[in-house]
Amino acid sequence: MRQAIDRDALLYRDMTKRYIRMERGEGIYLYDQEGHRYIDGCGGAAVVNIGHGVPEIAEAMARQARKATFIYSGLFANEPATQLAGKLIEMAPAGMSKVLLLSGGSEATETAVKVARQYHLERGNASKYKVIARRQSYHGNTLAALSLSGRIQWRRPFVPYLQDFPHIDPPYCYRCPYGKTYPSCGIACAGDLERTVEFEGPEYISAFIAEPIVGASLPGVAPPPEYYEIIRQICDKYDILMISDETITGVGRTGLPFGIDHWGITPDIIVTGKGLSGGYTPLAAVLVHEKIVEAIRRGSAIHTQGYTYAANPLSATVGLAVLEYIEKRELIERSAQMGTRLLQELDRLRGAGIVGDIRGRGLLVGIEFVRDPATREPFPAEAHVTSRIVDAALRRGLCILPGMADAEGGTCGDQILLAPPFIITEDQIREMADILAAAVGEVRDSVAA
Ligand SMILES: Cc1ncc(COP(=O)(O)O)c(C=O)c1O
Repeated sequence: MRQAIDRDALLYRDMTKRYIRMERGEGIYLYDQEGHRYIDGCGGAAVVNIGHGVPEIAEAMARQARKATFIYSGLFANEPATQLAGKLIEMAPAGMSKVLLLSGGSEATETAVKVARQYHLERGNASKYKVIARRQSYHGNTLAALSLSGRIQWRRPFVPYLQDFPHIDPPYCYRCPYGKTYPSCGIACAGDLERTVEFEGPEYISAFIAEPIVGASLPGVAPPPEYYEIIRQICDKYDILMISDETITGVGRTGLPFGIDHWGITPDIIVTGKGLSGGYTPLAAVLVHEKIVEAIRRGSAIHTQGYTYAANPLSATVGLAVLEYIEKRELIERSAQMGTRLLQELDRLRGAGIVGDIRGRGLLVGIEFVRDPATREPFPAEAHVTSRIVDAALRRGLCILPGMADAEGGTCGDQILLAPPFIITEDQIREMADILAAAVGEVRDSVAA
């Protein structure tokens, strides 16, 4: 029998809400305790890339569990970790040479910040420590990661604990921070990096971090074609490391191995997580460029980025099995193809009267809702449009992720994130779009009433 919520010892994110108890997953579907089926249209949290319940992964996991689940990376090497690191380097842009295996995105972005700092220390640049990030971004919930994050609602209560990391404007063309239009804007948002570096003092700046295509903070927002080339040049000019936070966009989510590949740029550090294990175990990675590895090798040759579960063989086995599954079934190509289909199917939502923007790459897609598509005026926060659309879709058997309220300085604005598993079929995409269209129609009518 289902336990009453007030006797449930788990502290839920929203204590006023009754959460549906999900029991199992298969392919793109989740099933609750009563047997109701839901399309996992957001892959959990852009995590479930190969689908739920894949037997090959469970078998690989069980085989490794029988051999050894834990080998401490502070003392020993293990084969699955070595193989997974090698596989990630094969997938990454040329020049990336070593990998740290970790347990989650926040741990990984924090580690990237510390690796960047060590690079400068090893080269005698002790004053470089600040990391520049962007507003309307997310890099994790631990304190340094939250300091990087431009998610106002999550930062604000913890400001006293946060680092003094500067933030620049996001490349958010739909609501350009400068009121300009591409291409006559001259990519002013990329220029904001150089202005900020000069303002802060280049001697203090260690790195710049960005999500190549934005996740839940500005779902699906991708900068113009020139953007990352300009960012790369500014980083090189001022001896600043470029960190690509691919916690969501890594391992094929956007239709190429890494999100930054859409711009043909090689960053100095790549962070990835989520889909790396497809949700089968907590796993993340930091990929480090040879120039950083070389600086550390020539210097102290030691780093202290140790965590108990780092590079454990069980998680590494899962990551390796997931990457092999993706490779064998050409699922990155499929993410690109199905992403195009999804955008085509969603196009009909534009007629709903409250859809302002539909955007994304591969199977990372965002939809922004507005009161008036002509003026782009957002709904007031009190209308709760995002949560009502999420609820209306869930009632019809579709899980979607709410984006952050990031219009008008973060006080309102309605966005959702779609990130279904790469194995989704064209029929299932059509069903997703049908459900979403009905949910959006319902909320539009109730808001208008
Ligand atoms: C871009 C990005 N970086 C970092 C994180 C933090 O990852 P985790 O929740 O695994 O700590 C997230 C999580 O949503 C993310 O989207």
